[in-house]
This record gives sequence, structure tokens and C-alpha cells, in this order.
Amino acid sequence: MALLELEEVSKSYRTDGVTVEALRGVSLEVDAGEFVALVGRSGCGKTTLLNLAGAMDQPTAGEVRIAGVSTRRLNDAALARLRRTSVGFVFQSFQLLGTLTAVENVELPLLVAGQAGARRAALERLDWVGLADLANRYPHQLSGGQMQRVAIARALAASPRLILADEPTGNLDSATAESIVGLLGRIASEQGAAVLMATHSQEAAAACHRLIRLRDGRIEAIEETGRR
Ligand SMILES: Nc1ncnc2c1ncn2[C@@H]1O[C@H](COP(=O)(O)OP(=O)(O)O)[C@@H](O)[C@H]1O
Ligand SMILES: [Mg+2]
Repeated sequence: MALLELEEVSKSYRTDGVTVEALRGVSLEVDAGEFVALVGRSGCGKTTLLNLAGAMDQPTAGEVRIAGVSTRRLNDAALARLRRTSVGFVFQSFQLLGTLTAVENVELPLLVAGQAGARRAALERLDWVGLADLANRYPHQLSGGQMQRVAIARALAASPRLILADEPTGNLDSATAESIVGLLGRIASEQGAAVLMATHSQEAAAACHRLIRLRDGRIEAIEETGRR
């Protein structure tokens, strides 16, 4: 089942009278259990695509469907609810809150959503990413790879079916990067989520099931890696 569908999606930004066409008619699907890489040089539209795929923004034209729900007619509150329940984001810079411990960072989205049992769920997620022992550390007491694991645990907090990662290994050394990519792959294979990861790393892209090459806002090629 396609958890993410983009149909002829275009996105242009207009600043100071200049229009930039960041995406030009992109169509793609990512299925449950699939781990897909989004590659292409800086400025080709990767972050724009992930933001649309995660209902952070609306396309200028075309349609985005997340778990079968079109984002087009949703108001801001409904988009926020869709993001909270269906999408987990992982960023290059981790984006943890420095004043909160690891477990508090993971727990926060569940508390915001008013979910019962938030602490227990957060500890389970930390255990799943291999960080149960470090639950009470603050981000500055963790390595980059550990911080990204916490961020992944947070992305998994609400058990979303779609995980979007924007250059998640960009700030990590290659051995750590490999383990983070392995973890994202397990989210697809063990939890059945659809995982879409923008990356500059050849190794990271090669670990995915499929890779989508973007160039100047268009899909240039879609390649199977043979890693299913
Ligand atoms: N908020 C924005 N306002 C104006 N232009 C933007 C904005 N976000 C991205 N762009 C432009 O859209 C194009 C694609 O950017 P982006 O999606 O960030 O690419 P990538 O993530 O592949 O580096 C670039 O030309 C970029 O300058
Ligand atoms: Mg980017």
C-alpha cells in the first residue's frame, strides 16, 4: 500500500518578485515497508519535496496523499493533526531541545498530543533505538550518533506510518552514518513504515531499496538497488 503519493506535484517560491520553481511535476509513491533514497545535488528540491510529503507545506499544483489522505483540502489544524499522527521527521541537525533529557525529548510530542502513557512509550522507543541506558542524559552529554538515535526515537513516538529524513547522516562520521541508515532501514522492514530519506551519501543511498534522482526539480531517474 502506498503510504505516500505525489501526483504531478509542483512547488514554486516567490521572493522579491523572483519565482523559483523548486519542483516541476513530480510523481512518486512510497509503499509501506519501503526504504527509499532521494538524491541529487544541493538545490534540486529534496527538502522541498520532503516538506510537501510531510504536510509541512502545500504544493503550488498537483496532489500529495499521506496514508491515502489528500493534503489539498485540509485546513491548518487538520494538516497539523495529520503530521502529528502519520509523519515522523528526522533532520540533519537532530533538533533536540537542549534543556530536556533524551526521554523528555521523545516524550514531548506525545504530551503535546495529550496521549496517556507518554513516558512509558518514550522509554520503549529509546530502547528500540538502543539508548535505554541513556534516557536521562541531556543532548550535550550524547555523541552525534546518539543524538540522532534520540531524534529517531522521537520521530517514532506516535508510531507514524511515514518517516521522512532530511540528510540524517550529514553531520555524522561514516561508521555512525552506517548505523543510523541501518536503523532507518529497520523502521521500514520491522515496523512496516514507509521511509523516505534525502541524502548526499552514495553509501546511504545504496543501502535503500530504491533511489529517486532529482535534478532541477524533476525526477531524472528511479533506480532499484536490489536490496529488498
Ligand atoms: N522557502 C524558500 N523560499 C524561496 N526559495 C526556496 C525556499 N526553499 C527552497 N527554495 C529554493 O528552491 C530550490 C530547491 O531547494 P531545496 O528544496 O532546499 O533543495 P535541496 O534540499 O535539494 O538542497 C532552491 O533553488 C532553493 O533556493
Ligand atoms: Mg535540503
